[in-house]
Amino acid sequence: MTSELAKGLDGILVTESEMSYVDGEIGRLIYRGFDIEDLAEQATYEEVVYLLWYGDLPSEAELEHFSSRLAEERVLHQDVLATLERLAEADEEPMSALRTATSMLSAYDPEASYTTGEIDLSREKGMRILAKVPTILASFHAYREGREPLDPDPSRSLAGDFLRMLSGESGSSLAGETFDMSLILHADHGMNASTFTSIVIGSTMADLYASVTGGIGALSGPLHGGANQEVIRMFRDLEDSEHGPVEWVKEMQKRGERVPGFGHRVYRVKDPRAHILEAKAVELAEEGAEGRYIGYAQAIEEYLTESGLVEKGIAPNVDFYSGVVYDQLGIPFDLYTPIFAMSRTAGWIGHVIEYQEDNRLIRPRARYVGPKDVEFVPIEQR
Ligand code: ACO
Repeated sequence: MTSELAKGLDGILVTESEMSYVDGEIGRLIYRGFDIEDLAEQATYEEVVYLLWYGDLPSEAELEHFSSRLAEERVLHQDVLATLERLAEADEEPMSALRTATSMLSAYDPEASYTTGEIDLSREKGMRILAKVPTILASFHAYREGREPLDPDPSRSLAGDFLRMLSGESGSSLAGETFDMSLILHADHGMNASTFTSIVIGSTMADLYASVTGGIGALSGPLHGGANQEVIRMFRDLEDSEHGPVEWVKEMQKRGERVPGFGHRVYRVKDPRAHILEAKAVELAEEGAEGRYIGYAQAIEEYLTESGLVEKGIAPNVDFYSGVVYDQLGIPFDLYTPIFAMSRTAGWIGHVIEYQEDNRLIRPRARYVGPKDVEFVPIEQR
């Protein structure tokens, strides 16, 4: 047994996986061997979820069956809806509302509350969870806007139906395609804090709902999924100030603050997903989408590149451009991180299923650096 301390588990291999691979040196991301650029351009989110969970691209018939099973599972139990209404009244954060409602879904699942590790049963349960996350978010948003949630429409794709339930409108096909693509980009990303959380929970053979709920909790922090909201928060503050974007970032650097959306534990160059989303943001702007932030993002990236930060390996990550695109699509700002969770649910479930096929309880150790041999003093003598 090694006694070396690996704080933050940097570079530590915890398992083998065939699902996705990140080459941080050249900025490459693949799912099951396929480049993310090809999947983003040519596949649908449902197709990518199938690929991640089953290991192969589906045939037309397989995709049809898988998509319609997912579509059937979108409806929420009325008790979950009632809870979402209460949470909206209490002004709960959307990410926390999603965490609570996802955990609650298990009460209405006909399967047992622990996992047997039987792969088909786990995929079934995975479908029930994945399909309901968009309905949870859209319904929560409807309640906090003071309207009744819309029922899911099984004839639409998961991405398109989410946008419809969220805004109450059908939306353009470009918006639907862009959002679907963004879900693909966020569906999986090798090992990371939230996926690790999910498999730690899964390694105890706890229920899949517990794994996904844990994943949502881990993703919520600003060092992980919360960064996409931090980026837009920065752009909003910038907008309200008298500064230009470069001046703003220079001031941040003087104060020793980190630029949200920059830096990554694995990527040493610009995240490939940031390249794709930046191009999409430009396309949306050319198509007339309202959105103020693409100019800020590009100016900040250009300055940080010239100033040498990017060369040091602190380059734009996916979050630097995802918020820009969501803003153009008119998605409310505080749903950006929950949307990341909606997409990554595919990765969490896939990894838990894969891990449980050859399960070993994850049980690391901590180096004890506290005192030993302290004599106990009874309370009345302290
Ligand atoms: N802006 C400015 N400097 C930075 C940034 C940044 N965003 N990120 C890292 N650095 C600097 C650090 O200050 C440190 O400098 P030093 O060596 O002079 O002290 C150096 O780069 C290394 O930083 P670490 O914290 O050791 O890098 P780590 O790998 O732990 O951090 C992390 C990765 C947490 C993502 C970090 O880059 C960060 O906080 N970024 C901003 C938040 C963010 O965008 N998170 C999203 C990550 S992607 C995702 O989860 C989807």
